[in-house]
Amino acid sequence: TKKITIAIDGFSSTGKSTVAKQLAKELGYVYVDTGAMYRAVSLYAMNNSMITENSFDREALIEKLPSVNLKFIFDENLGFAAIYLNGENVEEQIRKMDVSNHVSKVASVSEVREKLVSLQKIMGEEKGIVMDGRDIGTVVFPNAELKLFMTASPEERAGRRFKELEGKGEKVSYDEVFKNVVDRDHMDTTREDSPLVMAEDAIEIDNSFLTVEEQFDIILSLAKEKI
Ligand code: C5P
Repeated sequence: TKKITIAIDGFSSTGKSTVAKQLAKELGYVYVDTGAMYRAVSLYAMNNSMITENSFDREALIEKLPSVNLKFIFDENLGFAAIYLNGENVEEQIRKMDVSNHVSKVASVSEVREKLVSLQKIMGEEKGIVMDGRDIGTVVFPNAELKLFMTASPEERAGRRFKELEGKGEKVSYDEVFKNVVDRDHMDTTREDSPLVMAEDAIEIDNSFLTVEEQFDIILSLAKEKI
C-alpha cells in the first residue's frame, strides 16, 4: 500500500479533529491539528499583551513571529501530539474560550499564515499524514490524494462545542458558544488571505445527522479507495 495525504477542512466545530484522529490511528498516519498552531500563536499574542479585549497590535506580533517556536510532541495519555509553545505544553490553554474569541483575527495575518503553512508543508513531506484546518486542501496540500470538507448546521456545531467545554468545567453559555462559532465562520470565509473555501476536488460530508461511528466508516472507506 502507498502512503497518501489526507486534507480535512471545514467550518468550526464540525468534528474534523475527531475523525482525523480516528483515521490517523487506523492508518498509522501522523495527525496534525493546524488549528492548534493558530491558537498557540494567538495565545502568544495574548500573553504578550499584543491582544487585549478590544485591540490587536498586528505589527508587534509580526515583529516577534521569529521568536514563536511551535512543536508537536506525542502524548501517550492523549493518544495524539500535544502542542508546545516555546517549550511549554499549551494544549489545554489554547482550547479555552478567550483564545477562540481572538484566533480568527490572528489567522487573518498573512505573515502568520506564511510561517505556519511552511511548517505544515514540511510536516507533510513524507505523506502518511492527516491534517485538519481551513486551507489544507486549497493551500497547504493542493495535491492531497483525499480532500474532505466537513459541514454541519451551526446549531448542531455550537451544541457539540458547548457540551465539550461544559464537560471540561469551563463557564460558558450556549449563546456565547453559538456566537463564537458563527463569528469565526464569517471571519474565516471572508478573510483575504486563504479564506475557508471548499477545494474543487473535495468531498463534502455533512455530519449533522451522522454518528461519529457512521462518519468514520464513510471516511475510512473513502481513504481506502485511494490507498
Ligand atoms: O480548528 P480550530 O477551530 O481549532 O481553528 C481555530 C481557528 O484557527 C479557526 O477559526 C481559523 O481562524 C484558524 N485556522 C486557520 N487555518 C487553519 C486552521 C485554523 O485559519 N488551517
